[in-house]
Amino acid sequence: MTDLLEEIARFCAHHDMSETRFGELVLNDKPFVSQLRAGRDIRSSTVEKIRAFIRDFEASEGAVPPTRASVSGRFPTGGRAFPHRDLISIGALQTHEILFLLEEAEQWVELNRQPSKHNDALAGLTIINAFFENSTRTLLSFEIAGKRLGADVVNMHAAQSSVKKGETLIDTTVTLNAMRADAIVIRHGSSGAVGLIADKVDCPVLNAGDGQHEHPTQALLDALALRHKLRERGEMSADGMFNGLAVTICGDILHSRVARSNILCLQALGATVRLCAPPALMPREVEAMGVDVFHRFDQALDGADVVMMLRLQNERMDGQFIPSPREYHHLYGLTQERLALASPEAIVMHPGPMNRGVEIDSDVAEMAERSIITSQVEMGVAIRMACLDVLTRKERKVSGWGEGEWV
Ligand code: CP
Repeated sequence: MTDLLEEIARFCAHHDMSETRFGELVLNDKPFVSQLRAGRDIRSSTVEKIRAFIRDFEASEGAVPPTRASVSGRFPTGGRAFPHRDLISIGALQTHEILFLLEEAEQWVELNRQPSKHNDALAGLTIINAFFENSTRTLLSFEIAGKRLGADVVNMHAAQSSVKKGETLIDTTVTLNAMRADAIVIRHGSSGAVGLIADKVDCPVLNAGDGQHEHPTQALLDALALRHKLRERGEMSADGMFNGLAVTICGDILHSRVARSNILCLQALGATVRLCAPPALMPREVEAMGVDVFHRFDQALDGADVVMMLRLQNERMDGQFIPSPREYHHLYGLTQERLALASPEAIVMHPGPMNRGVEIDSDVAEMAERSIITSQVEMGVAIRMACLDVLTRKERKVSGWGEGEWV
């Protein structure tokens, strides 16, 4: 922590900025630096955010990036709006970068609702989707996204590849890179694998889910679906933030990359997050992420504005984590009766795939006015179009995107 404090002090002195102003700019939290000096705990994602801010600020020669409070539709220009070559984690993004991707996705939501859904922005580019784990939504939506943008899209399923002959992940990746892919989308069962691969290739890498680490495009599409539902009800704030929104995430938090990315994304957008799971399915010390932890679902639901249900990830479980699916449903399944404990009109979400009758009842999943599960799938295509478009702009020499180094 001493290193970080020294870095902040050096930055503030060099840029003639008070530490109060620094806390406000970076985290919308004026006393942050003085509290840090006094021993306040800090999450690793917050450290990442601070370091990314310092890097971006210095790369942009002191142009002040928008604060959380004032971001409202204004972003740094050109490549500074999203100065990342890869999309590996929500934890590496600043709030205005998340808002930028959400704003970019809106044009693709519109296009996808037209009879003709084609755009040639990525014509001539090759996108490889390398999936080392099963997927329906993520793989198909990345494929559709690439094709709707005019790219050549190739899917590599590990089960039918030379991975089955013993080829290592790195060798497979170097092979894909040698084919001169312009973007590689990867899903892998090991946490951190996608970040490792990104260091070995020459093109943007998009994380389609790595182990229990992150699933960044899922969190972005969830935020976009939530934004659309709130807007439809006239409840979406003009600055794109979710300030004041209480979101309960219930299910197998321990094994969930979706939960991790959503916690980071929702908090960055100002929402408060409650987590609920049996003790065996709750990560230890998760409170350090700034969430409220519950083991009784009824308490976690009390007054919640959004209820996000997660499935039991049996494929990641090593042993018995719950007595039986039936008992799990009894304690943690979302039924109509339970949903009544949340805010009136609380929104229901699920990233899929769903196990109906286990974590969620069919009649809840299909509540027309409350469930946005189908909208989440729709927004998945638009978000992935936005990510592919933005991450390939430098390579495509889109005006303003060629300067500066990626972080
Ligand atoms: N939500 C999600 O990642 O679904 P898939 O596993 O079907 O891609």
